[in-house]
Amino acid sequence: MASKDKQQGLSWIEWLKGSSHLIYEVLFQRLTSSHLKTPLPLPPLNDITCIVTGSTSGIGLEIARQLAESGAHVVMAVRNPTAAHSLIQKWRTYKPSNASLNVDVMELNLLSLESVVRFSESWNSLSKPLNILINNAGIFSIGEPQKFSSNGYETHMQVNHLGPALLSVLLLPSLKRGAPSRIINVNSVMHFIGYVDANDMNFATRRSEFSSLKGYSSSKLAQVKFSSILQKNIPAEAGISIVCAAPGSVQTNVARDLPKIVQVAYHMVPFFLFSPEEGSRSALLAATDPDILKCCTKLKADETPVCAYISYNCHPMSPSNEAHRTGTSQLVWEKTLDMVGLPADAVEMLLEGKEIKCRYGAHPN
Ligand SMILES: NC(=O)c1ccc[n+]([C@@H]2O[C@H](COP(=O)([O-])OP(=O)(O)OC[C@H]3O[C@@H](n4cnc5c(N)ncnc54)[C@H](OP(=O)(O)O)[C@@H]3O)[C@@H](O)[C@H]2O)c1
Repeated sequence: MASKDKQQGLSWIEWLKGSSHLIYEVLFQRLTSSHLKTPLPLPPLNDITCIVTGSTSGIGLEIARQLAESGAHVVMAVRNPTAAHSLIQKWRTYKPSNASLNVDVMELNLLSLESVVRFSESWNSLSKPLNILINNAGIFSIGEPQKFSSNGYETHMQVNHLGPALLSVLLLPSLKRGAPSRIINVNSVMHFIGYVDANDMNFATRRSEFSSLKGYSSSKLAQVKFSSILQKNIPAEAGISIVCAAPGSVQTNVARDLPKIVQVAYHMVPFFLFSPEEGSRSALLAATDPDILKCCTKLKADETPVCAYISYNCHPMSPSNEAHRTGTSQLVWEKTLDMVGLPADAVEMLLEGKEIKCRYGAHPN
């Protein structure tokens, strides 16, 4: 295992296997999901509070709307609060029964770790239980050159993994208060072609090798690896379960950076692509189905702990071989905590009700 952990990237066989998952998803997702209803029927969620990141567009918008329509108190954690407020207005006027939807908006920009800390501090200061955190917001800047956030991190890695990881850890006190609670990460089958070098998660020393495809798939794999160790480090008594969910290939604004000609082709294949409503099913199932918790418990007891993963057709699935390499997952865990400015014992401290300092928190003048 140790020597395998020293490899520098995916072998071509692993890459081919990973690519076949993507091709299979696009070609057969509609067929293999034909048993699912759209929208997915949800139980009444009247006493449930959920935070949904990136809920102004695509899959996140559908997740937030359907949770709210099922009675949940939904907090839209978004970088454009004006867009979120006009959506709520639309939902409330769209159906008479939606007049009393319980939806709030809070600002969150995952490109700024300071914004993540501010969001978490203001939510935690309410001392309210949080039952479901859905880390949905994500970017895939297809074909764009490598970019870095104001915190100095590669943008896919920051928005898709580092920001959500910091948010999940900082919200643990509220999630413990809301137990049994869940963290749902909207992941991607693209993690199958991802590879994370824990010593260079920022692609700083491999800039010439960078592509948006590598940035995206690595960030999604890093999320699975981090989630597995986070789940392992949360004691069962805390009652917090973590699930990654693949939405399928979904027609959303995620392709907004594609060249115009490719966007036209993308919109011409609706038969193969899911609608956002169809793409929201796996995350909604992961967030609300009581049976998912059994799957988390089983995986927790497993010798090679890897977090629960739900596929686009709402079945539990095994993540990639890379996700199962616990040696590198532990390194990704340690490196992530360091990059987001958290102490190594942050999880234990927060679950014991103790205060911690994050490097990206407010500093006294
Ligand atoms: N579509 C697919 O085929 C597909 C496949 C696999 C996985 N996924 C995953 O599904 C999730 C949702 O994507 P989508 O397809 O619904 O794309 P989308 O329509 O582009 O929605 C992405 C959402 O994330 C928000 N967001 C982007 N950058 C952010 C930031 N810095 N801070 C806070 N919010 C930010 C966006 O806000 P703005 O509206 O303000 O930009 C938007 O609300 C992502 O994690 C994506 O990786 C999608």
